[in-house]
Amino acid sequence: MSHGSNDTKAEAPGALGEAQLLEIYDFALDLGRRAGKILLDGVDQRCGDEEGRGQNEVDKMNAVDIVTQTDLDVEAFVKNEITARYPSHNFIGEETYSTGNSKEYLVTDSPTWIVDPLDGTVNYTHLFPMFCVSIAFCISGVPVIGIIYAPILDVTYSALTGHGAWLNDSTPSSPAPSHKRRQQLPLVRNPIPVLPEAAPKGCVFSCEWGKDRRDVKDGNMWRKVESFLTMAAESSGRDGKGGMVHGVRSLGSATMDLAYVATGAFDIWWEGGCWEWDVAAGICILREAGGLITTANPPSDIDTDPIEEVRLGSRLYLAIRAAGDSATETGRQAQERVVRETWKRVYNLDYSRPGA
Ligand code: IPD
Ligand code: CA
Repeated sequence: MSHGSNDTKAEAPGALGEAQLLEIYDFALDLGRRAGKILLDGVDQRCGDEEGRGQNEVDKMNAVDIVTQTDLDVEAFVKNEITARYPSHNFIGEETYSTGNSKEYLVTDSPTWIVDPLDGTVNYTHLFPMFCVSIAFCISGVPVIGIIYAPILDVTYSALTGHGAWLNDSTPSSPAPSHKRRQQLPLVRNPIPVLPEAAPKGCVFSCEWGKDRRDVKDGNMWRKVESFLTMAAESSGRDGKGGMVHGVRSLGSATMDLAYVATGAFDIWWEGGCWEWDVAAGICILREAGGLITTANPPSDIDTDPIEEVRLGSRLYLAIRAAGDSATETGRQAQERVVRETWKRVYNLDYSRPGA
């Protein structure tokens, strides 16, 4: 469906007009599907290739931070399409950025595309279906359009600020398959479920091990695993801090994690180390689905410090799903309660970067 008649919420953002943003949204949805087709072609080729798995991976930072020829091909394709259609817009893509030496935050106030051509590259090389193309369009540093397309699953998650977040959205040139129902996010909406009273008990907690595998006590990997243990442990465990979460999940793709928080399948996502292309589209979709996203690191006063909106380049993320109002608190109050309950159980992570 075209988005001209779409429902819900506030005004469209920024200097670009509503009609232009709807046109960019349709373009991005279509582009996501076309880029996903290239990923699938790569899978098909490998499945028919006797040399098999891993034939063209190259390490970046270490043996778990890899790039395949497909990452490069898809990014080149997406970049060409965007620059041909919108030559005045800026473009930041994971692979283009990674070839530079700086780790600086490069997103400005100008209209900017932030693209991860393949989020979940390790999954891709192992044919675990949680990988996707992730395309965001930002104005004034804020993602206002987010498109995620997971080609093996053949699902799209998308949002344009002010127009809701959607599973399986379509454009006239890029229809969703007829057997896939278009649904607004979060999926359970009438009513949106409240967050558990004893949260994190009762919540599905998602997290990622990440790529910093330095085996040093107090390093990021150690701090993450200690935090996972505290969130998972029985309530009496860990000096009474045990979170007793319902389940712990790691999809291996930050973008997909965020999409699952947007659907409501995950209640909490806590992660450090991701870059802007890993999260920009997911942040837009999550917010439009009523989710909250702030920083992973606990502030000095966990009970009273304000809960600030996440900074895109901060590399530290804590996301909470949309929450319904209850008799005793609003959905927003419940989300903030779960933020603070999570902060009580996690360590500070150190993913600093120049200029951040
Ligand atoms: C990675 C995945 C992973 C997250 C890493 C990301 P990539 O992206 O999103 O889940 O933990 O921080 O870099 O390399 O597969 O595009
Ligand atoms: Ca990637």
